[in-house]
Amino acid sequence: MNQGLGRCVGLVLGLWALAPGGLVGQATPSNATPSKAKPKGEAAVEKTLALGERMYRKGILPSGEIMQTVVSGKEPVAGTVFTCVSCHGRAGLESFEGGIYTLATSGAKLGQPRYGKYPNLSMEERTRLKLQAPPVRPAYTDEALAKVLRTGVDPAGRELHQAMPRYDLTDRDMALLIQYLRGLSAKHSPGVDATTIRFATVITEEVSPEDQQAMLVPLNNYVARHNQLSNGFGNRMYMSIGGEEMSGGYRKLALSVWRLKGAPSTWGRQLAGYLAKEPVFALLGGISYGDWKPIHTFCETNKLPCLLPITDFPVITEAIGTPSTFPRAITRKARR
Ligand code: HEC
Repeated sequence: MNQGLGRCVGLVLGLWALAPGGLVGQATPSNATPSKAKPKGEAAVEKTLALGERMYRKGILPSGEIMQTVVSGKEPVAGTVFTCVSCHGRAGLESFEGGIYTLATSGAKLGQPRYGKYPNLSMEERTRLKLQAPPVRPAYTDEALAKVLRTGVDPAGRELHQAMPRYDLTDRDMALLIQYLRGLSAKHSPGVDATTIRFATVITEEVSPEDQQAMLVPLNNYVARHNQLSNGFGNRMYMSIGGEEMSGGYRKLALSVWRLKGAPSTWGRQLAGYLAKEPVFALLGGISYGDWKPIHTFCETNKLPCLLPITDFPVITEAIGTPSTFPRAITRKARR
């Protein structure tokens, strides 16, 4: 049982890197809570956003055809190879890797001028501090966004790095993609607010107190240690490349324990009750001596990441990068 514990801590760290601002591409239709009868206008907006989302995440045009991209000024490449999401992530946040700075594509960032120094200050703060440096680029209008995506030239006339492909889209498809970008990361994900990211871990009732503690102690220690940080200068993130930006996204962590009782067929209902009362960003670890499937099914249904549970009966899936637990490749390695 104990071999899963190191992983738990590792995965919390990994998750932090995943979502520094607690945003994971929210305000998109597939993350929205499904409801039965939607007003007509709302349903139409959702449909439009879903088409934009498919372009952004899968590289597929509203017509069902594959988007064409031009990479490094060479031959066209299928857009399914270089999807927006593969570089900009679901949330459209900035990142830095291999010497390349990938700029944000979230609506708020595109709608603001970008400044070289203190990029995160609001216009009011800049005025108050009498910071007069001109922006590195002005805010994007829809026309400027279409231009940068087609030609790679931003509204300041700067030609973007060749790592950013060029996309030759029709006006209609371009408008759909831009509408999607404008709403990207406009809202926090479930379980996240301005100060806290909430997680839960699941324990089924037959698990011995020793095994429960073996999982809970490192998880709780990690949370406690993280919560002693501040978002100021003492925070290690403050010193990183993202600097103030990363530490400004700092949030406290909270971990709840969801205890399941009775027959596995009732677990789904119990979990739904917990989630309705207290939305969480993801399930971390979790421990059961029985079949993990009911918990896995609940996570899949609710699009809730359910990461590295400690179980002898994991659900094996083909997919990597979905909320599913234990992709087959990992399990095969573990069996060797
Ligand atoms: C192969 C990686 C890659 C892919 C795929 C990619 N981008 Fe980019 N994108 C980048 C990089 C890197 C930059 C920053 C380039 C620079 O600053 O010179 C960038 C910049 C941008 C910018 C400019 C932001 C600004 O503040 O000026 C926008 C907008 C953008 N990308 C949107 C998209 C969209 C939409 C897609 C999909 C249709 C996409 N990108 C696909 C890597 C990528």
